Amino acid sequence: MANLANDISEVLVTEEELREINKRLGAQITKDFEGKKLFIVGILKGSIYFMTDLTRNIDLPLEIDFLGVSSYGSSTRTSGQVKIVKDLDKSIEGYDVLLIEDILDTGRTLDYVSDMLKTRKANSISVCTLLDKPARRAPDVDLVPEYVGCDVPDEFVVGYGLDYDQKYRNLPYIGALKREIYE
Ligand code: IMP
Ligand code: MG
Repeated sequence: MANLANDISEVLVTEEELREINKRLGAQITKDFEGKKLFIVGILKGSIYFMTDLTRNIDLPLEIDFLGVSSYGSSTRTSGQVKIVKDLDKSIEGYDVLLIEDILDTGRTLDYVSDMLKTRKANSISVCTLLDKPARRAPDVDLVPEYVGCDVPDEFVVGYGLDYDQKYRNLPYIGALKREIYE
């Protein structure tokens, strides 16, 4: 049967837990960015579900935009060689930028993106990731995210924006993908 849930070996973050994460991070970001010029930048496409729910829990004036990045690598691992395929529409000079990512794995993608944005005279650049796989961080990556939804084990996860081969993004929770699907 063509049922997305059939391809999941274990639910790792439920819909209820995702709501709690969005509430908690939204409240913290609201507190931390009060009085600042908040500019939310979502990394396409994995962050869009998280970003739309998170920003509705931030009670501040803010602007949003997206960065499209592609990284060369296999379908389950990134190489860290990142290419910008959609840049921001305007200058971030003077803004307090909050980068939104679906998952921090080796950390190479966000490390590259935040270094690139640092050359653009933003007032500050912070990172908010829904998921973190700390066990997978590359030794040469020094990026530390300011906001983390929750840690996940070193398994390939999908749903709530995260894909495998562009599919499973619309699964409403985060699940581990059955190994037989990608091995
Ligand atoms: P990094 O550069 O190794 O940190 O990889 C980050 C990117 O790889 C994320 O934005 C995801 O697109 C992708 N990625 C890493 N791990 C997973 C996973 O378990 N499921 C889905 N995508 C992943
Ligand atoms: Mg991604």
